[in-house]
Amino acid sequence: MSTYHIKHLEEYYKVYRKSVREPEVFWEEIAEEHFTWHKKWDNVLEWDFKKPEIKWYQGAKLNITENCIDRHLRTKGSKTAILFEPNNPDEQAEHITYNQLYERVNRFANVLKNEGIKKGDRVCIYLPMIPELALSVLACARIGAIHSVVFAGFSATALSTRINDSDCKIVITSDGSYRGNKTIDLKEIVDEALNDCPGVNSVLVAKRINSEVTMKKSRDKWLQPLLDNASIECEPEIMDAEDPLFILYTSGSTGKPKGMVHTTAGYMVYTAYTFKNVFNYKDNDIYWCTADIGWITGHSYIVYGPLANGATTVMFEGVPSYPDFGRFWEIVEKHKITQFYTAPTAIRALAKENLDYINKYDLSSLKVLGSVGEPINEEAWHWYNDNIGKKKSPIVDTWWQTETGGILISPLPYITPTIPTFASLPLPGIQPCLMDEKGEEITANQIDGRLCIKYPWPSIARTIWGNHQRYKETYFSAYEDKYFTGDGALRDTVGYYRITGRVDDVIIVSGHNLGTAPIEDAINEHPAVAESAVVGFPHDIKGNALYGYVILKETGEGRLHDNLRKEINQMITEHIGSIAKLNKIQFTTGLPKTRSGKIMRRILRKIACNETDNLGDTSTLLNPEVVQEIIDNAL
Ligand code: WT7
Repeated sequence: MSTYHIKHLEEYYKVYRKSVREPEVFWEEIAEEHFTWHKKWDNVLEWDFKKPEIKWYQGAKLNITENCIDRHLRTKGSKTAILFEPNNPDEQAEHITYNQLYERVNRFANVLKNEGIKKGDRVCIYLPMIPELALSVLACARIGAIHSVVFAGFSATALSTRINDSDCKIVITSDGSYRGNKTIDLKEIVDEALNDCPGVNSVLVAKRINSEVTMKKSRDKWLQPLLDNASIECEPEIMDAEDPLFILYTSGSTGKPKGMVHTTAGYMVYTAYTFKNVFNYKDNDIYWCTADIGWITGHSYIVYGPLANGATTVMFEGVPSYPDFGRFWEIVEKHKITQFYTAPTAIRALAKENLDYINKYDLSSLKVLGSVGEPINEEAWHWYNDNIGKKKSPIVDTWWQTETGGILISPLPYITPTIPTFASLPLPGIQPCLMDEKGEEITANQIDGRLCIKYPWPSIARTIWGNHQRYKETYFSAYEDKYFTGDGALRDTVGYYRITGRVDDVIIVSGHNLGTAPIEDAINEHPAVAESAVVGFPHDIKGNALYGYVILKETGEGRLHDNLRKEINQMITEHIGSIAKLNKIQFTTGLPKTRSGKIMRRILRKIACNETDNLGDTSTLLNPEVVQEIIDNAL
């Protein structure tokens, strides 16, 4: 029986049972056989969900970049590690071999050292999808600095909040970025953000679009000359298993983003193991995940998981619609992609376009298709299966979260029979359960419940940066001794899970996790706004879109309202980023509230979804009369 690479269904069940019966033995074997350690652990696992405290491989010493780079050099030095496909298809793709990756990461690591960055320091990375993004992440890991990548679509305000929350010393950015036929001046955004970040005293700037930028003396430096002068050797910092590897922010039910902290050894083991199995990665495969490294999907399944397996991982700078809607398929043909991993929102957008965009290209290299970020609806699933996979490539619908570090529920390709809309079975080591609203575990099937995990897995986030109490309250307080995911799910008679969506105040828009609270905070910053509430409603491409109910300080009419709608969205763009813009804005004189003053979002959600026939129990409302007004004016 091979534990590391599962080959058939019977083996999956066997391995799974073992992982539940003897989790420590299971994770010990995998860690022992497939990674490089400077010292092995004293203890595989210590945990207490009440505190909560979770420690994997305590006492072990390692450096993750040795596992992702150095150890492959002997056998795979000239293999492509990172394949960079630029925004413009006429620009040459860049193949970075493992040998080159070693040199370039070391140079970068030495540059950071020269800037005074040491083990444990936080480094903010605000870069587009260019090689420097992956290199800077790995360079931090090489010297034990904690990277905090902020997606380059976030606004200056969102960036400064994140820089300050984790007290980053340095920012790595670029002059700008290409997105389709647009360019974006990233350095300008950084400059604006840094007006509010007194702790940052150095900025490294990569050149990408060759735009004019202002360099602040003594703070800002061009990256390339520093790299050119740096040594290609950099001894890896030897890290403890539980030393933080990175912080990655995700939104939650209050305005402040949560800096999820992932640590070194467990994260490495779990992302490597799941990458190998969920994508059935084989030596000569060319794997492509279309996500941005600014999200957890990119951290785990563009950078760490693939590189730990010595894989070739593609980084794509552009967008699916440029120069036309055939771009993804052109890239699949050009690089003979074997595994293709994307989001339902991209699938739905491309499914709207002419099939000629696909049929022009040879997609026969594809072996596995992946989906991530939100539930994939049946129609999109079939479109993906028929037109991209030609009914030959299994679809792995992978369910997981920023907090989980890696995929928890997913089919294994060619092994698990797939059913559209079902993420299917838990991966080895994962013990999901469903809870009812009273806090009892649901043992029956075909009932919707709240998805929890009963037992720790190696890549679970260990805390929220600077706020362990919030970590405890958010994930470990809803149900005793369980990690609460915030998602609803259904389990069928054979034990397959279907994720039904968030049950909290988080809305997944185009695969992006957006808390309603930060959006409402941004809206309320508008001087004309008294109060607001944001809910989600179904949207055929984005999955969900945002519907805002806004109370103005003074009522106005018509044209004024249209201007206000624009200004409110502008406000959101400035505070968060354009991904959080509202599709619909309804002005109202009140919001339905309980006697304790809580907005009854359930009712607002029903109105936004046009399901006003049955609003459910409204008896606890303080102001039931406002409901009719909202229904009458619904958009
Ligand atoms: C939320 C986590 C994990 C990488 C990207 C998102 C939703 C994610 C699926 C899926 C149904 C999914 C959940 C989850 N989600 N994958 N396959 N089926 N829902 O990470 O931003 O932390 O969001 O995304 O609601 O809780 P994230």
